[in-house]
Amino acid sequence: MLCFDFEQPTDTAEIDTLLDIVFGPDRRVKSSYALRENNPAIRDLSLVARLDGRLVGCIRYSKIHVANTKKIHMASAKPGQIQNLLLLGPLAVAPELHGKGVGKKMIERTLDTAKNMGQERVLLVGDLSYYGRFGFCLVEPNIVTLPNGKTEDRLLLRQPKAEPPLLPHGKLLPGWA
Ligand SMILES: CC(C)(COP(=O)(O)OP(=O)(O)OC[C@H]1O[C@@H](n2cnc3c(N)ncnc32)[C@H](O)[C@@H]1OP(=O)(O)O)[C@@H](O)C(=O)NCCC(=O)NCCS
Repeated sequence: MLCFDFEQPTDTAEIDTLLDIVFGPDRRVKSSYALRENNPAIRDLSLVARLDGRLVGCIRYSKIHVANTKKIHMASAKPGQIQNLLLLGPLAVAPELHGKGVGKKMIERTLDTAKNMGQERVLLVGDLSYYGRFGFCLVEPNIVTLPNGKTEDRLLLRQPKAEPPLLPHGKLLPGWA
């Protein structure tokens, strides 16, 4: 039977094995990992999926913020302004279960939980072709930069329409400010 639980410290080894299988051992060089270094996953939001006890899926969220680092005033951004966000990822499903809705269930459940926590702004690095169905949209290039100063052209954002857009000239940084 497939079931979902919040991630526990005892799941870490199984999650690492799944991530190595799905993303390969060089996964830690991915740009989004810089935002997750020394920035633990949020335990009451991150989920694991188990099929008959075996870990077959995981989804993690971390706290990040975007800080306006430019010393200029704009209508939508003031120097020193920050926005707290959730970073979704990694999301992984065991290859033999791809296409059976495990990823969809984990995303929908966790986005609901995030909404109940009052955190509806979610950022990730991933494929629009997959995440678009969950309401994620492409962040225009050069709006925000990663901690290493580089831009990321697969940056996707999901947020309520009424919220202001991501701070222009913002820098993405780990944790909440
Ligand atoms: C991406 C992933 C998490 C999806 O989980 P899943 O349980 O297989 O997905 P679901 O069953 O919920 O959804 C399957 C649908 O997503 C599509 N899909 C899967 N990966 C996709 C991708 N990278 N781009 C576009 N569509 C994708 C499938 O074709 C399928 O489409 P359909 O519903 O029209 O048939 C899983 O395939 C996986 O672990 N992939 C490798 C790791 C990865 O790429 N993770 C991050 C995604 S950027």
